[in-house]
Amino acid sequence: MYICICKGVTERAIREQVCAGATCVDEVSRNTGCSTQCGKCLLRAQRVVEDARLASSSAPSGAAMGATASA
Ligand code: FES
Repeated sequence: MYICICKGVTERAIREQVCAGATCVDEVSRNTGCSTQCGKCLLRAQRVVEDARLASSSAPSGAAMGATASA
């Protein structure tokens, strides 16, 4: 799912950034361009970063990515 339409940044891309070590939305923005144009996606991006950080801190390594089932 796209989080940032302006820059074409997906939720998955943000989660990958967190798995790679990003700790805040500013870092994700620097690396992906997310939230650097109109800024309307900033809140959503922050939520994804927070959720990914929680998931990566409480799940075994590798389980944070794609852990949600899609039906
Ligand atoms: S939707 Fe992300 S900067 Fe516009």
